[in-house]
Amino acid sequence: MDERTAAAELQKLVNGFQVSQAICVAATLGIADHLKDCKRTSGELAALTNTHPQALYRLLRALASVGVFHEAEDRSFSLTPVGGALRSDVQHSVAPWAILAGRPYFRQAWSDLLHSVSTGENAFRHAYGKGVWEYRAEHPEESVIFDRAMTAMSRGVAAAVLTAYDFRPFSVVMDVAGGQGALLAEILRRNPGQRGILFDQPQVVAKAGPVFDAAGVSDRCDIVAGDFFVSVPEGADAIVLKWILHDWDDDTNIRILKTCRRAIRPEGKLLVLESILAPPNEGASAKFGDLNMLVMPGGQERT
Ligand SMILES: C[S@@+](CC[C@H](N)C(=O)[O-])C[C@H]1O[C@@H](n2cnc3c(N)ncnc32)[C@H](O)[C@@H]1O
Repeated sequence: MDERTAAAELQKLVNGFQVSQAICVAATLGIADHLKDCKRTSGELAALTNTHPQALYRLLRALASVGVFHEAEDRSFSLTPVGGALRSDVQHSVAPWAILAGRPYFRQAWSDLLHSVSTGENAFRHAYGKGVWEYRAEHPEESVIFDRAMTAMSRGVAAAVLTAYDFRPFSVVMDVAGGQGALLAEILRRNPGQRGILFDQPQVVAKAGPVFDAAGVSDRCDIVAGDFFVSVPEGADAIVLKWILHDWDDDTNIRILKTCRRAIRPEGKLLVLESILAPPNEGASAKFGDLNMLVMPGGQERT
């Protein structure tokens, strides 16, 4: 690669935050849902989303230049396969995550990455003087956005989890800090006769009911609110911890694991689901996810 091409490549990476924020805005406005069956002009989309026509056109043409939408001569836009992942009704919808990643508090914490790298400390706590879970509990609108993102991502991986692991031997599966239950609902749906317990913070499980209703498994699942530093319900022969241990430091994880150990049946199994860090020079998703753990909750990927 010559020097000019290399510089242009780097410039593109540096400006990645602009692409990310533009996608966040398109997701927040629900542009992809308006394009799911037909192409529309930017003027039509501006009317549908109550936005400034020229400014929206500028957003859409920028996103068309990176392959999220396709722009035709008449300023009409349609979805590309990549942009299709911003639809809210697809199994692997990235829209909830895009909306979360563009939230001001999220970007603010990331802008303190230098602090984390200089000190090893959690950027979020440095910026806000409290942990991210406490912050979200105090900002219910942010908690709702975060929980939606987790639900969408869990839906996206549930089929792969169930292909990789046989949950049939268990009679009671408990998902500790299981969010709004997207994974547990799918486990129960695929394993008739099995019971489940969803455990998470009160403001999170408050919206879990419809997830189990939609899967037709509500009658086989108890939804329990609480704090995993205090206790979790007893009686499960499998405890799932998905994307939990990566949120915390080692000492805190030992406390969570001890709580689980006290509650699980003696012959029970603890199932830990986390990202796998690839060998050097590969696997950007998990490695940037690891940086996100440093910045936001103050944890790390450990594989
Ligand atoms: C990264 S999310 C993962 C959610 C879910 N397991 C999933 O994979 O979609 C971490 C979860 O930990 C929960 N959590 C944080 N602190 C908690 C606590 N003290 N007690 C119970 N749950 C907690 C959050 O509410 C959140 O749902």
